Amino acid sequence: MDIKKYFIKRTTITNKALKVFIKALQDVPPILQKSMLYSLSAGGKRLRPVLLTATYEIFGGKKEDVLPAACSIEMIHTYSLIHDDLPSLDNDDLRRGKPTNHKVFGEALAVLAGDALLTNAFTVLGHNAETGKIKEKNVLDCVRILAKYAGAGGMVGGQAADLGAEGFLQGKKLSLRSNKKLFNAANDLLNYIHLHKTAGLISASVEMGAVLASASPKDFKHLSNYARSIGLAFQIVDDVLDVIGDKKKLGKKGSDARNKKLTYVSLFGIEESNSHAARLIAEAHDELDKVSGSVKAKTVLHEIADFIVKRDK
Ligand code: IPE
Ligand code: IPE
Ligand code: MG
Ligand code: MG
Ligand code: MG
Repeated sequence: MDIKKYFIKRTTITNKALKVFIKALQDVPPILQKSMLYSLSAGGKRLRPVLLTATYEIFGGKKEDVLPAACSIEMIHTYSLIHDDLPSLDNDDLRRGKPTNHKVFGEALAVLAGDALLTNAFTVLGHNAETGKIKEKNVLDCVRILAKYAGAGGMVGGQAADLGAEGFLQGKKLSLRSNKKLFNAANDLLNYIHLHKTAGLISASVEMGAVLASASPKDFKHLSNYARSIGLAFQIVDDVLDVIGDKKKLGKKGSDARNKKLTYVSLFGIEESNSHAARLIAEAHDELDKVSGSVKAKTVLHEIADFIVKRDK
């Protein structure tokens, strides 16, 4: 299958649904709605909605049944990007090929657009209980999963640790090779950051897809392991692209070196980062093989795993 074409098709469906959901929100000041739609419509791979719908489809359901849940996670992801780019965080001025939200609307409105996307993600997720296709209990489980992976013990926690680790490697590069304790501390901190700031929402996407399909506990576990592995690999590749990626294709300029970030590249270098990501993808394939269902039904998730390391944006 052509995974790039698949992404384009799925992106079109997600984009349409996102617009409908945002426009349906009541009593919203026009400038706030504009700011929310600006970042949501700026492009983006829509990896998380694609993962959610593809996971759901393994078990025989139709993507239309879970579009609200798929959109809810993209809203939270987009909010995380708006806040990530703020001057007080990574201070970036280009995102998805366009000026960052705060460059266009100002910092205050960028903060508020993020707040609104986060809060109303749960409005949109709630719509999945109204489609008649999904058990209310499954939607409730999704609320729990999404809040866990987005919140203080998830993405927000990862972002806080990411900021706290800025400058961690300053002046320590030489001693890292000989000081195993220091190296292990850096490695543990790095993995905490990446598993929380990025793998978390990827885990949420897959776990929500599984829960919405009433997957068995065994299938849920293997899918969850799959997601954790591709999620960590995704951030490793993001770190690599920050240094060697084509900025035009990426639609962002790369700011890890400027911000003295603790990244896979700064700790391990490019080559070792790439081989670590490849190992994780191999593990993800193994986990997926253990999930019940036909090989054909799982093709998309296998392809997405490979796409994550091959991508150039
Ligand atoms: C960027 O995510 C931020 C990370 C978590 C690495 P994506 O690379 O999925 O960004 P978009 O949605 O395609 O813009
Ligand atoms: C951010 O990681 C992850 C988020 C939670 C948004 P990065 O700071 O590396 O993401 P980019 O490179 O700016 O997209
Ligand atoms: Mg960041
Ligand atoms: Mg950033
Ligand atoms: Mg990055």
